[in-house]
Amino acid sequence: MGAPNLLNPERRMLRAMQLSDADRSWDLAALLAACDWTDQAVAVGAGHGLQNHGYVSLLEHEHREIRLDSEGKKAVENGLLEQRLWTWITEQGTATMQGLQEAFERHEAGPGVGLLRQLGVSIEAGALVAPDGDTIEATLQERAAFLSSLPAQADALDEDMIKHFSSRKNLIHAVERTERQWTLTPEGLACSPDDLQEAMVITDITPELLQGEAWKTAEFRSFDVGLEATTPRTGRSHPMQALIERIRAIFLEMGFSELVDDYVQSAGWNMDALFIPQDHPAREMQDTFYLDEPSSIKLEQGLMEAWKAIHEHGGETGSTGWGGHYSTDVSQRPLLRTHTTVNTIQYLADNPTEACRVFSVDRVFRKEAIDRTHLPEFHQIEGIIMEEGANLQMLVTTLKTFYAKMGYPEVRVRPAYFPYTEPSLEIEVKWRGKWLELGGAGIFRPEVTEPLGITSPVLAWGMGLERLAMLVLGLDDIRQLYISDLEWLRNQPIL
Ligand code: PHE
Repeated sequence: MGAPNLLNPERRMLRAMQLSDADRSWDLAALLAACDWTDQAVAVGAGHGLQNHGYVSLLEHEHREIRLDSEGKKAVENGLLEQRLWTWITEQGTATMQGLQEAFERHEAGPGVGLLRQLGVSIEAGALVAPDGDTIEATLQERAAFLSSLPAQADALDEDMIKHFSSRKNLIHAVERTERQWTLTPEGLACSPDDLQEAMVITDITPELLQGEAWKTAEFRSFDVGLEATTPRTGRSHPMQALIERIRAIFLEMGFSELVDDYVQSAGWNMDALFIPQDHPAREMQDTFYLDEPSSIKLEQGLMEAWKAIHEHGGETGSTGWGGHYSTDVSQRPLLRTHTTVNTIQYLADNPTEACRVFSVDRVFRKEAIDRTHLPEFHQIEGIIMEEGANLQMLVTTLKTFYAKMGYPEVRVRPAYFPYTEPSLEIEVKWRGKWLELGGAGIFRPEVTEPLGITSPVLAWGMGLERLAMLVLGLDDIRQLYISDLEWLRNQPIL
């Protein structure tokens, strides 16, 4: 079996081990020498890797080494304090406390007497008396021998001695360290040397690398993308905002410019301009949010006269209009826009003769009961194309292009009805095998364009953003988009 996943240091280490006795156990120093390394971390890391692959086994040994400390070193040179005191005592005829204090400095005489007492020396009437000199000599010799045997492993030393000297200041100290020993396993031994050639292993793909030729023969470091990792939690756009940005980018790329306008509007622009009859059911209080403030939005007299003519008898368009009586009061009622077509139509009124491509992604309001698929406040993706020769084919192609760029290549249109377009269509997108209706479109009727002086055909559409969001995010409840469920928000894909 090969070893293609081994890193270079692992290969080198395994190779070095194979070249020696199969059952040799290697310590760090031996590995460093055999692999020509100076960095211990490289050796330990390579050993770790090989161990994980089952190619080496590792034996770790915790060591406690006892070493001489500063006072210990002095003691080895000059003798322990108790030894020097004892020598002095044996040299005196009668050793007195007073003599001792004269012969030794205070910092030695004080603790020295304590040490002598522990050894069995007693003080009788100012004289130092030792009943059993042989035992004292033996103990002193033992102590000296212990110190001169250092440094040494703790388990090879006398425990009582270690305890004794540990309790005295700066004589000895212990150093803990781990000794590692690596041995080849049969699997490691069986690794073919051919697989242990050190290769150029690439861990980072850089532009410089790709410009050269070396990568062609190099090996790439493999990464396990299935490993557990923590999820970084950083701030990010709300999925709706991210989706809006994506839609914007697509329309901008298709040559459209963006229109942003108010959502407080008059019924005149929201409906009359779009040839929606004043007695249309959608205009009722239960469908539209009318406003008390301001009490009315003043519209130009001439404009309202033109709409009056269109609505009552079709004006100059050849249409018969809706008949009945057109009210300027109704026209000037303020409301929250029910669609963003209210903004594109005003853009056209301001720029009636210049060819244009305009879009908006903005908020609209309808008195809907909230449920799984309805909200009283939602967004529309609106757009118009006005230019000479614009036709239905162009409208369908534009919408198909937009949805294809959004990732929905299957789009179909079906006949529909809106008071302001002819022909009118519904746009449907295929999602998980089903056709879903996403919006309406059409070509503005003469009843809409003529009073505003628009001479070229206008292709127009208005589509639901939240519906699209439900597709993109795979939701079955539209409310999920607005309930600020942090856990859900964190787990949304980046759009
Ligand atoms: N305004 C329509 C709606 O709100 C959509 C639409 C826009 C239809 C433009 C035709 C042309 O559903």
